[in-house]
Amino acid sequence: MGEGTWALVTGASAGLGAAFARRLAARGHHVVLVARSQARLEALAAELRSAYGVQARVVVRDLAEPGAAARIAESLAAMGIELGVLVNNAGIGTFGRDAEIAADYNRDVAMVNVVAVADLVQRFLPGMVARGSGSVVNVASMAGFQAQPYMALYAATKAFVVNYSLGLWVETKGTGVKVLAVCPGPVDTDFPIANGIKYDERRLGWLLADPDAIVRQSLRALDRDKGYVVPDWRNWPEAHLLPRRPRRLMTRLIGLVLRRFADYQRR
Ligand SMILES: NC(=O)c1ccc[n+]([C@@H]2O[C@H](COP(=O)([O-])OP(=O)(O)OC[C@H]3O[C@@H](n4cnc5c(N)ncnc54)[C@H](OP(=O)(O)O)[C@@H]3O)[C@@H](O)[C@H]2O)c1
Repeated sequence: MGEGTWALVTGASAGLGAAFARRLAARGHHVVLVARSQARLEALAAELRSAYGVQARVVVRDLAEPGAAARIAESLAAMGIELGVLVNNAGIGTFGRDAEIAADYNRDVAMVNVVAVADLVQRFLPGMVARGSGSVVNVASMAGFQAQPYMALYAATKAFVVNYSLGLWVETKGTGVKVLAVCPGPVDTDFPIANGIKYDERRLGWLLADPDAIVRQSLRALDRDKGYVVPDWRNWPEAHLLPRRPRRLMTRLIGLVLRRFADYQRR
């Protein structure tokens, strides 16, 4: 996707989304920044305009609301924007026993991580295919490779993102459109804190990847039309060995590890 085309990033107000917006603007894309925090989006838009000389628009939208993708598509149409790059990055997590998580929160997780992702793809992919160019980047997670007790719904939503993206990657072959699932391990953003996981910096800080490094590797994989990417070499063994293990055994083992974190949270 060349310079001057429009890229939309959901969850652009923080973490990986802000890093995606910065890198795409650095590549010369005009950007549409989507999230709920208007002030943070406006500040980033101003930064990108002045740093890279691109156009930057803000669309404030709660992706947990039904019809969010339709409203976003309407906003872009009203601005006369034809989308070249869609980055479905916004996501929220679950942690702890599913039976103890509020039903309304879990519904929001499904809406943001699954419904909004598919709805946005369905609103913008047909135009890309018709024009014979475009890119869709869906931010999944390593959690999407394996059932994860104590992050059960989150991992299931990310399995959806991985499999949906890979399916689209094959379907769009030869159309000029690229599709990529990004599958990071732990990244140094507000995400873990916002969702109640307290990383012990002393013990686990070394595991956290730099968001900008994740984005750089992801955009390289997109350029090469890799279909999916597991950024950060430290994740290679888990990404490539885990899925081959027996499902019930692996799920129990992962449950043993994650239960320690879940119980730590309750103290
Ligand atoms: N951090 C990690 O360790 C990690 C690992 C693997 C995958 N991921 C994935 O990476 C993606 C980005 O996460 P992050 O680590 O950058 O998290 P983050 O720092 O918490 O950022 C999440 C972004 O999503 C937006 N968002 C959350 N709920 C929203 C809603 N209802 N409507 C619209 N926007 C919403 C937030 O903006 P507002 O609050 O302003 O709405 C924020 O911009 C997620 O899909 C996550 O699952 C993260």
